[in-house]
Amino acid sequence: MTYKKQRNKTVLITGPTNGIGYELTKRFAKDGFNLILVSRNKPKLEELANLLTNQFNNKVLVISEDLSQANSAKSIFEQVSKSQMEVDILVNNAGVALYGEYRKIDLKTELSMIQLNIVTLTELVKYFLPNMLQKNEGQIINIASTAAFQPVPMMSIYAASKAYVLSFSEALSEELKQTGIYVTAVCPGPTNTGIIDASGGSNSKLFQGKIMTPNKVAELAYKAVNKKKTVVVTGMKNKILSEGVRLIPRSIVRKISKKFLEEK
Ligand SMILES: NC(=O)c1ccc[n+]([C@@H]2O[C@H](COP(=O)([O-])OP(=O)(O)OC[C@H]3O[C@@H](n4cnc5c(N)ncnc54)[C@H](OP(=O)(O)O)[C@@H]3O)[C@@H](O)[C@H]2O)c1
Repeated sequence: MTYKKQRNKTVLITGPTNGIGYELTKRFAKDGFNLILVSRNKPKLEELANLLTNQFNNKVLVISEDLSQANSAKSIFEQVSKSQMEVDILVNNAGVALYGEYRKIDLKTELSMIQLNIVTLTELVKYFLPNMLQKNEGQIINIASTAAFQPVPMMSIYAASKAYVLSFSEALSEELKQTGIYVTAVCPGPTNTGIIDASGGSNSKLFQGKIMTPNKVAELAYKAVNKKKTVVVTGMKNKILSEGVRLIPRSIVRKISKKFLEEK
């Protein structure tokens, strides 16, 4: 499957209304894919759908769903089935982050993040993979993070959730090697989007200075998923850091990681 002139192919993307998801959505739309846009904010989804339909004439279906709710994946699958659209590319992009000491964050908030970042992502793959297998064609793109490569004190559950996404994606990619289905884990480093303020971590050293724009991250990610790469770390500095942690003892890695996450 090449990405040019894909009028008859459909991408389902979660979290298309902001940040990295928004920038990826524009690229898929420009290449002619039909789109299924999924997130909570219905007016914003509809505004985006109108923009894409007017600009690129894509067929767009909007599904307003809170992915931190149990059974949201099932509901999405049922709505897609009713629409007669078939998902050729599934992009699990929606995610939240939490900054702070584990002992100070309430369990409900953490479980809601786990539901969104891990459980619903896994369920969406479970629902949409069978049809891809039947056609022996498809692609699953999961947005992980460079946080997946090491433990991250002050973002412990978030980093663990992204380690899950990376590990799951790599293993699934290998399991599907003899099929026409490709799995990619995209690992952006710190990126200037709404997730930073929302996580409560905007004063952390990690997010200070010059960090990547969602446009740049999407540009690099889009090129790589087009080439069906299994793991994509966006940006040279992020690549060096994510490879570098393998060469350093873990006891040191977690101490360095803690320093990066301190407030400035
Ligand atoms: N920014 C970074 O530094 C960074 C670094 C590495 C990885 N990532 C990963 O990249 C992905 C995108 O993050 P971003 O930085 O682009 O975030 P963002 O700007 O905050 O956008 C998040 C998107 O997800 C949707 N979303 C959030 N919670 C949702 C929920 N409960 N149900 C349905 N949709 C929900 C939002 O739409 P609604 O508000 O309409 O629901 C929005 O479209 C995430 O998986 C994140 O972990 C980000």
